[in-house]
Amino acid sequence: MKKVLVATEKPFASAAVAQIKEVLDKANYELVLLEKYTDNADFLKAVEDVDALIVRSDKVTKEVIDAAKNLKIVVRAGAGYDNLDLNACTKANIVAMNTPGQNSNAVAELAIGMAVMIARGNYNGKAGTELRGKKIGIHAYGNVGRYVGEIAKGFGMEVFAFDPFVNDEHIKKDGVTPVSSVEELYSNCQYLSLNIPSNEKTKKSVGFDLISKMPKGATLINTARKEVINEEELLKVFSEREDFRYVSDIAPDCKDEITGKYEGRFFFTPKKMGAQTAEANINAGVAAANQIVDFIENGNETFKVN
Ligand code: 3PG
Repeated sequence: MKKVLVATEKPFASAAVAQIKEVLDKANYELVLLEKYTDNADFLKAVEDVDALIVRSDKVTKEVIDAAKNLKIVVRAGAGYDNLDLNACTKANIVAMNTPGQNSNAVAELAIGMAVMIARGNYNGKAGTELRGKKIGIHAYGNVGRYVGEIAKGFGMEVFAFDPFVNDEHIKKDGVTPVSSVEELYSNCQYLSLNIPSNEKTKKSVGFDLISKMPKGATLINTARKEVINEEELLKVFSEREDFRYVSDIAPDCKDEITGKYEGRFFFTPKKMGAQTAEANINAGVAAANQIVDFIENGNETFKVN
């Protein structure tokens, strides 16, 4: 019997676990559950004899791969796979996959939700501002970016996008205006939704030069990764622009230099919350389980990322 470990430091909703189990039961696979672990040693132990692994943002390091003697496939139930050591997976002949698009709506709803929250002064009782009529720029028009655009249009915002990998016609079809450079996007838009992945090229790529181009009342919304921000330069923007506000799904490393000093101009989730809905957990978790079964039974490698 094949064993599938679901290792989630931040657990899926119980309905998602139940549905993952249904998929695995049907294939006659065993589900092994490791939730809310605080000691990585527990992860290393649990992975020892499993054939497949499902994780969220859990770090699948070379140490984990080395400990996983039977592992054939790891699926990141989500979009960003910056938590997987792809080289270690490839060297060990392990297929790595993600589940693109499955949790995107949840992330986009949080992005706009945080925009509303900061526009209303974090609900402090004082008069805030509205999103209607404002311009929002979408930095990377992928699955999350598209949903952000759709929701923003519902709010009556003007939507712009920059993505060198997506055809302009495709963007226009959604009623979104493509712009030809990232600088143009930031210069145009009061709200900016950051949806780029974190990789060697994008880490620290959003800093003073870009952010300070934003018009008055600038709000940067980060539901991507904290690593894509140049934090030293973020602090410079905070100190030089009183109108600048920053909302982020999980706090930056420089959080202590912001809180207390720039009250009302930021909001940080206490834990990465973007994909933390029952719907997103079910979509991503079930997709991961199905991809594992389809890979083991039929060799389907559609969502392979290594
Ligand atoms: C993703 O990359 O899919 C999101 O950041 C969600 O991450 P999570 O599964 O840790 O919530």
